[in-house]
Amino acid sequence: MSSTPIYDFVKQISDSTISRFFMPGHKGRHPFDPFFQDVSRYDITEIEGADVLAQAEGIIGESEELAATLFGSRATLYSTQGSTLGIQAMVSLISGRGDTVIAGRNAHMAFYNACLLLRINVRWVLPSHTDPYGICGAVTPDQVERALCDCPKAAAVYLTSPDYLGNTADINAIAGVCKKHGVPLCCDNAHGAYLTLGETHPIKQGAAVCCDSAHKTLPVLTGGAYLHLGENCPWTKQDAKERMALFSSSSPSYLILASLDLANRYLAEEAPRGYERLRGEMMEMRRLMKQKGIACLDNQADYAKLTIDAGRTGWDGLELAAKLRQSGIEPEYANPYYVVLMATPFLTQRDWNRLSEALKKITPGRPITWEDTPYCLPEAVMPAFQAARLPWESVPADLAVGRVSAQTVAACPPGVPVVTAGERIHEQIKNICKKSGNFTLKVLK
Ligand SMILES: Cc1ncc(COP(=O)(O)O)c(C=O)c1O
Repeated sequence: MSSTPIYDFVKQISDSTISRFFMPGHKGRHPFDPFFQDVSRYDITEIEGADVLAQAEGIIGESEELAATLFGSRATLYSTQGSTLGIQAMVSLISGRGDTVIAGRNAHMAFYNACLLLRINVRWVLPSHTDPYGICGAVTPDQVERALCDCPKAAAVYLTSPDYLGNTADINAIAGVCKKHGVPLCCDNAHGAYLTLGETHPIKQGAAVCCDSAHKTLPVLTGGAYLHLGENCPWTKQDAKERMALFSSSSPSYLILASLDLANRYLAEEAPRGYERLRGEMMEMRRLMKQKGIACLDNQADYAKLTIDAGRTGWDGLELAAKLRQSGIEPEYANPYYVVLMATPFLTQRDWNRLSEALKKITPGRPITWEDTPYCLPEAVMPAFQAARLPWESVPADLAVGRVSAQTVAACPPGVPVVTAGERIHEQIKNICKKSGNFTLKVLK
C-alpha cells in the first residue's frame, strides 16, 4: 500500500492527548459545531515532526517524492494555495531568464497578475478561438514557432492546456519547438492533474514545468495543487521551492497537505480503474447527447469535461444552465455560448441518472447564429505593469472605446481577461465587458 506520511502524522496528533500549546487557536476543538470539531483535530501547524513546506525534508518531502514518482516528474512540489501559487512561482522563475514571455491569450488571470507584479512583458498568441468571448482555444505549434522567430529573446513559452472549455494544445509538438529554440515550456495544467493517468499530462509530453490544481479533478481539498518540474527543466527543486516561498503563507494548511498526501494513495491504487470507468460514462453521455441532438465540443482529450455547445443546440447557455439547475444539476460554468460540466469518479450513479434525465428534458432548437465576430486581440500600447501604475479614471464603458485600459477585466470563472492594463479598448471589448456586467471601466488619464 502506498505510504501517506503526512496523513499518518496528522492522524497521530489527532488521536493523541497532547496539549496543543501551538497554533491554530482552536486547539483541535470547536466551540459549537460537531463537523468543525472533527476537522479541527486534523488542523495543525508546522510543529516538531510535521516538516516545513518551504524546506520539505521530512514527511512533506517524502510525500512530494512519492507524488513525483507517480507523475513521472523530476520533482513535484505541493501548494496549499492552488495553481495560482505555482503560476506565480513559474513567472518568477521565468523572470530570471529575461523580461518577455510568449503566452497563449487563454491564460488565467493568475498569470496576468503575476506578470504585472513581476514586471514581465507578455507577447500574446491568440489561440484559435472557440467563442466570441475570446477566452478559450488552443495555441498551435506553428503559432509558437512563429512567435519564437519574431521574439527570439523570449525567456519562455507559457501555455494553458486544457483550458476552461476543455481545449487542449499539442504539448508534445510545442515542447519540440521550444526545445529547438532553447526556451522552457511552462504549462498551466490546472484542469488536467488527472491526465497523469494516461500519457497526455504535460510533464509526460515534454513540458519543462507545469502546475496542476489537484483540487479541480482529483479528490483533494480546495487549494491543493502541484508544481511539477520535468526532466528538461532548467530550474532545480530548490529554485522552485524558493520562488514558491516568495508568495506563500508560512502557515500552510495541513488539511490540504494531508489530502494531497492521500491523493498519492488514490492515484497509485484506485484511480486508474476509476478514471477508466469515468471515460466510459462520459462516452455514454456524449452518445446520448448526440442521439438527442445536443451538441457538445469535441474535447475528448480532456475527457472529464463535458462542454455543451448551447448555441448549436439552439439554446442560450445561461438558460440551459438554469434548466439543468431545475433538475438538480449545478454546472461548473456557463456563458451564453457554452455550459461546462466537470466529472470525476466521485459522482454517483444517482448523479449520472439525474444528468441523463435532465438531458432528456432538453429540446434542441434551431442552432443560434451569434452575431458576435471572433474575439480580436486589442492593441498593446504599453506593458500591463507600466499601465497599472499610471493615473486612471472611471468612465462609462461606451466612452472607454479608444482609451487605454488601466485594469484587467475578467469574468471569473473562467478568469481569462478580455482586456489587460495597457491595452486599447475597442468596440468588441467594450461590448463583452458590458455583457459580463462591467458598465464602468478604468482607463488611463
Ligand atoms: C486555467 C486555470 N489556471 C489557473 C487557475 C487557478 O487555479 P487555482 O484555483 O488552483 O489557484 C484556474 C482556476 O480556475 C484556471 O481555470
